[in-house]
Amino acid sequence: MKVCRITDCGRKEQIAREILEALTDWFEVPESREAYIRESREQAFFAAEQDGRMIGFLCLKETGRSTVELAVMGVRKESHRQGAGKALVQAAKEYAAGAGYEFMQVKTVQMGRYEDYDRTNRFYLDAGFRELEVFPDYWDEANPCQIYVLSLKEKVTLTDLIMSRRSYRGKYRPDKIPRKDLKAIMEAGLAAPSGCNRQTTSLIAVDDETLLARMHQVIDPPVAETAPAMICVLTRRINAYRDRCFATQDYSAAIENMLLAIAAMGYQSCWYEGHITDEDRIGDRIAGILGVPDEYELVCILPVGIAESTSAAPKKKPFEERAWFNGFGPGAADRDGNP
Ligand SMILES: Cc1cc2nc3c(=O)[nH]c(=O)nc-3n(C[C@H](O)[C@H](O)[C@H](O)COP(=O)(O)O)c2cc1C
Repeated sequence: MKVCRITDCGRKEQIAREILEALTDWFEVPESREAYIRESREQAFFAAEQDGRMIGFLCLKETGRSTVELAVMGVRKESHRQGAGKALVQAAKEYAAGAGYEFMQVKTVQMGRYEDYDRTNRFYLDAGFRELEVFPDYWDEANPCQIYVLSLKEKVTLTDLIMSRRSYRGKYRPDKIPRKDLKAIMEAGLAAPSGCNRQTTSLIAVDDETLLARMHQVIDPPVAETAPAMICVLTRRINAYRDRCFATQDYSAAIENMLLAIAAMGYQSCWYEGHITDEDRIGDRIAGILGVPDEYELVCILPVGIAESTSAAPKKKPFEERAWFNGFGPGAADRDGNP
């Protein structure tokens, strides 16, 4: 079973309909079912897939600057108690925390009314939600509304994110990347430090299919062909002071910020620089397609998309081979008396 984010509005509606229409014990009123399906188009949407079949989904809706609501979640009855709900909530928590939200709320019928809803209550409590308040008349007297809240802070730490990021070179799903996500990723890049604050890095996000196709005509051998968006990193090699140019350091910091923002939002990417700055100068040809002025150099492309598969972690040398305390080499640790 795998959970992935869906960004295509039509697919969201289709999956929501498929699942909710199979769960009429919980979603019995056709009008509210239709409302959930309709509203899912605009919401952050996560789907659980098993053996090529969608078995569940979850939608998030912003209800305040710091809060998202778990607006609707459904898992096919025959797939209950197999971890799909838990995996969906986990994916939603990671996404929401990465997107900067602090709380997630969810509404359900208060514990002690109906057996099915009691199971739902226990599921949310297990997932870390806590009782916030009960509103007896929010829906109607027979269905008192329990609001649960979950703190998203400290759930996925920056260190966790840094340690789990890796280069992805597999296929991407065709789902489009919302402009607001691409903008948030680019903002993370532009927030990076730069030597003497010269801000030598500029960015172009490409999400136009025709333009992407033209870019791929010059990327030979091909990479990231299926990515629905690509962020192109430009640099201006101007001096920060005297003859010191920090353009490479500047764009490297921006790229790492963007890679982390991409990972935080549940997307994948890879730092393609060697590939496009080699003798065949693919980067220059992409720059030509994008109308980049001569004083800028296109140094890197970052695909952005939802992964079709998982990537294996590359082997990294052990800590002791590359980092030490109080001097070079492993023996240095003895100098402060700590082995
Ligand atoms: C300056 C630089 C250039 C890179 N160029 C490429 C490239 O052209 N093609 C590629 O597949 N990966 C490229 N990478 C990604 C590295 O291969 C990757 O970071 C490394 O193998 C470690 O894997 P990880 O990112 O999963 O930790 C580049 C990384 C850096 C920092």
